[in-house]
Amino acid sequence: MSSYKIIDHEYDVVVLGAGGSGLRAAVGLSEAGLKTACVSKVFPTRSHTSAAQGGISAALGNMGEDDWRWHMYDTVKGADWLGDQDSIEYLCKEAPAAVLELEKYGVPFSRTEDGKIYQRPFGGMTKNYGNETVQRTCAAADRTGHAILHTLYGQALKHNTEFFIEYFALDLIMKDGACKGLIAWNLNDGTIHRFRSHITIIATGGYGKVYYSATSAHTCTGDGNAMVLRAGLPLQDMEFVQFHPTGIYGHGTLISEGVRGEGGYLVNSKGERFMERYAPKAKDLASRDVVSRSIAVEINEGRGIGKEQDHVHLHIDHLDPKVIDERLPGISEASKLFANVDVTKEPIPVVPTVHYNMGGIPTNYKAEVLTVNGSEKTVPGLMAIGEAACVSVHGANRLGSNSLIDLVVFGRAAAKRAAELVKPGMKHDEIDKSETDRCLVRFDKLRNSEGSNPTSELRLSMQKTMQSKCAVFRTEKTLKEGVHEIRKPFEGMDSLSVKDKSLIFNTDLVETLEFDNLIRQAITTMDSAYHRKESRGAHAREDFPKRDDENYMQHTLSWCSGSKTKINYRPVHRSTLTNDVQYFPPQERVY
Ligand code: FUM
Repeated sequence: MSSYKIIDHEYDVVVLGAGGSGLRAAVGLSEAGLKTACVSKVFPTRSHTSAAQGGISAALGNMGEDDWRWHMYDTVKGADWLGDQDSIEYLCKEAPAAVLELEKYGVPFSRTEDGKIYQRPFGGMTKNYGNETVQRTCAAADRTGHAILHTLYGQALKHNTEFFIEYFALDLIMKDGACKGLIAWNLNDGTIHRFRSHITIIATGGYGKVYYSATSAHTCTGDGNAMVLRAGLPLQDMEFVQFHPTGIYGHGTLISEGVRGEGGYLVNSKGERFMERYAPKAKDLASRDVVSRSIAVEINEGRGIGKEQDHVHLHIDHLDPKVIDERLPGISEASKLFANVDVTKEPIPVVPTVHYNMGGIPTNYKAEVLTVNGSEKTVPGLMAIGEAACVSVHGANRLGSNSLIDLVVFGRAAAKRAAELVKPGMKHDEIDKSETDRCLVRFDKLRNSEGSNPTSELRLSMQKTMQSKCAVFRTEKTLKEGVHEIRKPFEGMDSLSVKDKSLIFNTDLVETLEFDNLIRQAITTMDSAYHRKESRGAHAREDFPKRDDENYMQHTLSWCSGSKTKINYRPVHRSTLTNDVQYFPPQERVY
């Protein structure tokens, strides 16, 4: 591929992605004296973490008694026993220190009367092992992710992380099963860059854009996940896709669970507070999968609202406007903008909307990427964190506010582990030219596509198939059709049309590379869902309505080459890391 000018870089560690987890890792790596690059396709403060609203969970106990073990129990239960309990223990135990560290870095948290970090109730968060609700979610009004992201970017700059902004990563550089860095395209001047690094940390976020309606930004295309698949490594638990109960009807914009945490409630067309029937104890603050399914049932049984009876209402008009103004200013603005609703007077029309991917790149609690060849093995030189990773603390269903804490706890853990493995200035291996060529051949092929199928049409076909065949409720029939139909947009790439051949801010080519990444994840998601014949967390099979611990208390692993997948399983980790807490055995999951 001699036509491309390649610019070489050497770093101790390269972080791919500049959202909450990538930035937190970058801060720790730079602080530890490692020469660190952070490569991102968007400006760091435009990363999708900025859209996180309601808060970050940690058992600080600022609003009454709390304990990290209760947080752990809630997370295990929320995950429907698919989470690895060693990782969940690590998450919940480390959470308070990670949040206090953010406070020290300067995150402008909302405050209690006596100056402590304000914490609000959130779905599935309880005290005394499910017995009472608790206020555990630390909030900066309803713009918590935005506040964290801006603060971490400032810290990374302070510690001299070197940023490569608006660089689109093409592929990992692999050698003998180890990762040696990555290749990226500089969108600004068209140059190709080869980053050699002892450790590459993937922090590229989720892949919500495989669906038509999602709270995710257009940039949420799971680029790192697809790079892992192309490197011949598996993704894990891809069938577990979270639908947030309250996306604005018709737009998908997120209305934070914090709204229900502050006293908001859902009603159907009969004016009934229907959550009382589905979750008598937790009601509107049941776990997300439960609330989303309940809304779907209300709509399916004809109790939806509107001409099409296809959404429900979320009320906060009974709350003191001062509380709305102080704690929920963002959702008030979004409701006005996208639904023309004054939340102090009218309900917000909402519908379950794709929000989060529990699945991703399998890792241990130190953020090292795992593969399975008989038994679990780490992949040298490769780590993953944040929504891109499946560590797996969220198992089959993530609790609200457990994402932001996942970002910072495992971003921190990755930096710690990398500092143990790499000494500053260590010599780099040679990289075979053939490996660089492999990455560029794909780039070149897509760029020079002269067929007749525009990327936008293939993407729409993929999104519509995922939306209709891999939805809140799934059956053998819909999934079987989905397995077949999701391959059509993939095959459509045989006659792809990329009109713009330039190398500078070529959005046609960027979207094509992103589509090529998305479609592989769509295929692994659909196939993994088809093969899991039980209902667990966010994966609700109408034909297999019960959880089947005997056969499926296992993580799904999916490899993908072209449109062919291989599905396998690995056992859930059933032991804790320390004796500070005991393993929580499976129970019936009721709220
Ligand atoms: O509802 C929310 O504010 C979203 C939070 C989360 O996904 O953790």
